[in-house]
Amino acid sequence: MNAKEFKRRRKHLMEMMGDKSVAILPSSPVRLRNRDVEYKYRPDSDFYYLTGFPEPESVAVLVPNREHGEYILFCRENDPEMETWNGRRAGQNGAVSEYGADDSFPIDDIDDILPGLLEGAERVFYTMGTHPDFDQRLIGWVNRLRKQSRAGIHTPGEFVSLDHQLHEMRLYKSSAEIQAMRQAAAISAEAHRRAMQICQPGMKEYQIEAELGHTFMTEGALSHAYASIVGGGANGCVLHYVENRSTLKNGDLLLIDAGAEYDYYASDISRTFPVNGKFSRAQRSLYELVLEAQLAAIEQVKPGNHWNDPHEAAVKVLTKGMVSLGLLKGSVKKLIEKEAYREYFMHRTGHWLGMDVHDVGDYKVEDDWRLLEAGMTLTVEPGIYIAAGSKAAKKWWNTGIRIEDDVLVTKKGCEVLSDGVPKQPDEIEALMAAG
Ligand code: GLY
Ligand code: MN
Ligand code: MN
Repeated sequence: MNAKEFKRRRKHLMEMMGDKSVAILPSSPVRLRNRDVEYKYRPDSDFYYLTGFPEPESVAVLVPNREHGEYILFCRENDPEMETWNGRRAGQNGAVSEYGADDSFPIDDIDDILPGLLEGAERVFYTMGTHPDFDQRLIGWVNRLRKQSRAGIHTPGEFVSLDHQLHEMRLYKSSAEIQAMRQAAAISAEAHRRAMQICQPGMKEYQIEAELGHTFMTEGALSHAYASIVGGGANGCVLHYVENRSTLKNGDLLLIDAGAEYDYYASDISRTFPVNGKFSRAQRSLYELVLEAQLAAIEQVKPGNHWNDPHEAAVKVLTKGMVSLGLLKGSVKKLIEKEAYREYFMHRTGHWLGMDVHDVGDYKVEDDWRLLEAGMTLTVEPGIYIAAGSKAAKKWWNTGIRIEDDVLVTKKGCEVLSDGVPKQPDEIEALMAAG
């Protein structure tokens, strides 16, 4: 993503904010994993979306039409000794020359400088609740201004949630964002193909996880978008299974849900395949049903359809199929009304996808499902999960299947970004046989 893209986003947001307003965006804090070991740093998505600035301890302030510069970035000062230990810092000069800030101050001076930036404003755009420590500091700065009101200092009267406008912007992906998402999906697809090719009975789930991570990093995606789910047999029925410690058994299915993050954009792909390379009859019949539901749902991803159309299509196919396979009994219409399918399909068919795996953006406008528009990206991920001990006949037990793709709404329909990994059962078997 180049500097122009970030500048265009800031400009767009500031146009929506209007005069006499200030937006404040802190980045994420550094988080400790244990004692003094830190998690790998990932900036806050809203902050990064507007700044492209990757360092911790930074705060962006946008003041539309401010004479001395509209974009102020607080960040760490250059410090040769700290930089020797922990790596380069942009410092105030770099914030301006490399990251396009109009002005930059040391983060340690924010208490002195930020209240002054709030003084002339009527409205403060800010997201409460995401970074609670920062919420407290902001309240402190506003209270300080209030105390000075007798000295003629103006305090902003209105706090406006920044989420709404910013998240509307993030929902519609630009061509640069779509490029990053295509790349994230292509790398993840390659990782899933590799997993299919190396999988053998007797391997540990974490060995497959390692192969996924190997492909991600080798291809330049330096992070996972979320913790990989690698669940064989019964573990495939646990929706958020991330332990990945079991041994893969001959005759079981393996459900993998894994996606790379590339240039801060997520992919989110699930595939399910037989550990030994060959679907059993029972596995294949359930698999084909999930695939039929997924393809029917993808058909519904087009401009003018509403958010819930793909889900409704998946539910219809799944319910019908569950009746034909004897998993449910009764009229399809009534079973859908009663949501009987939830016994085996208990999540929704997808979510927005972007910088965050469960990306921002409203799913409803007032009380109605939102209409799909070109540039939106979402996942389509129906599944069937039949745990041991469920009401289903024993032959179905310990079968968890999910097929998940990343889909871009285009002007005419949609583009499946993650189509680089097979999902037709014959294609999967052929790829595994060649592995
Ligand atoms: N990997 C999380 C999800 O599929 O929503
Ligand atoms: Mn997923
Ligand atoms: Mn998903």
